[in-house]
Amino acid sequence: MKADKKKVFIRSFGCQMNVRDSEIIQGILQKNGYSVCENDQNAEIIIFNTCSVRKQAEDRVWSLIGSYKGSKIIGLVGCMAQNYKDKAFLRDEDVSFVVGPQDIHKLPEILARIQPKGLLERKIWEVDNLNRPEEIYHTGFYQNPNHAYVVISEGCSNFCSYCVVPYVRGPLRHRQKEKILNEIEAAISQGITSFTLLGQNVNSYLDDGFNFTELLKEVNALKGLKKLGFFTSHPKDAGIATFKAIRDLEKLDKTLHLPLQSGSDRVLKLMNRGYNSKEYVALIENYRKIVKDGSLTTDIIVGFPTETDKEFKETCDLIKKIGFNAAYIFKYSPRPQTEAAKMVDSVERQEKEKRHKYVLDLQRKISNKLKKENK
Ligand code: 5AD
Ligand code: SF4
Repeated sequence: MKADKKKVFIRSFGCQMNVRDSEIIQGILQKNGYSVCENDQNAEIIIFNTCSVRKQAEDRVWSLIGSYKGSKIIGLVGCMAQNYKDKAFLRDEDVSFVVGPQDIHKLPEILARIQPKGLLERKIWEVDNLNRPEEIYHTGFYQNPNHAYVVISEGCSNFCSYCVVPYVRGPLRHRQKEKILNEIEAAISQGITSFTLLGQNVNSYLDDGFNFTELLKEVNALKGLKKLGFFTSHPKDAGIATFKAIRDLEKLDKTLHLPLQSGSDRVLKLMNRGYNSKEYVALIENYRKIVKDGSLTTDIIVGFPTETDKEFKETCDLIKKIGFNAAYIFKYSPRPQTEAAKMVDSVERQEKEKRHKYVLDLQRKISNKLKKENK
């Protein structure tokens, strides 16, 4: 081992995709002779693997970067890196390198070029790559000895009007079925038994005519695999085939996460979601008919531009009518480049907070009631 092994600490923010990406970063850095620390104290380099879905998440990262007061070499990686590109250096001069989600495989080489603080400081940014090399998924490194996240598709082409993901993670790309199965089999041989398949819209998975339910069947059949889950589903692509797979595949988790976002048809249209409330309800009815002992979770955005009191109430009514086991409720946050950001962010901050609190309380009651009823 080299004596001058650089010590890196990775701080991860955001969704499960980012949890997996941070693990991938750790895997490739370790393979390339870097030491990845358990905490930031001993590290010379701090990698922030970031999320841009809401402004609040970004603000938190900027404030944490500031809290190091220039004492560490800072790398901005992931969605914020792609969002800010080289402008990140202007936003905070302590940022030394900026690496987008499609460029993380370059990190060992970038870190090798980074100079210690005080010496010739470099500003490096890598945000132009379109596709990740498949090898990064095969380092064999997983944080959890029992469970692994497995990416089946990258990016998203849905362009929901509020969402930054298609801009920072690029268009939808599917990993090849064989490569996915190879990754899972190798993880099983390491002793991992539980798996979660990840994608922004898993139901639209397609590799050379081979679709999502077929993938589920093949993964479910792998010897040594005991538990399987997936997310996220999109209401415009999830359907009977997925629900039947949930019913029939014995290792598959019966919980379905199906983001509703809004109960108002006008708002859903503005969001470019591709379904209306009636279609969503019909989908849930099918799921419940097919999967007897399932449970349902969702995502809701309150305060989307021009959302009226009446439309907000429609969301609440639909939440009550459906009875989700859990819901993640978000206040609308305008994101750069998105269509919705061109609209006036018309719902006042206090009103957004009021609506947010109202749905949180409503959902808490529903969740508790369902728990008591053992549903
Ligand atoms: N503002 C608020 N919430 C958002 N989400 C995505 N983009 C935004 C935004 N601009 C929420 C959606 C999505 C979840 C992951 O984050 O509900 O399903
Ligand atoms: Fe964003 Fe919509 Fe894609 Fe989900 S489906 S990542 S909300 S654009």
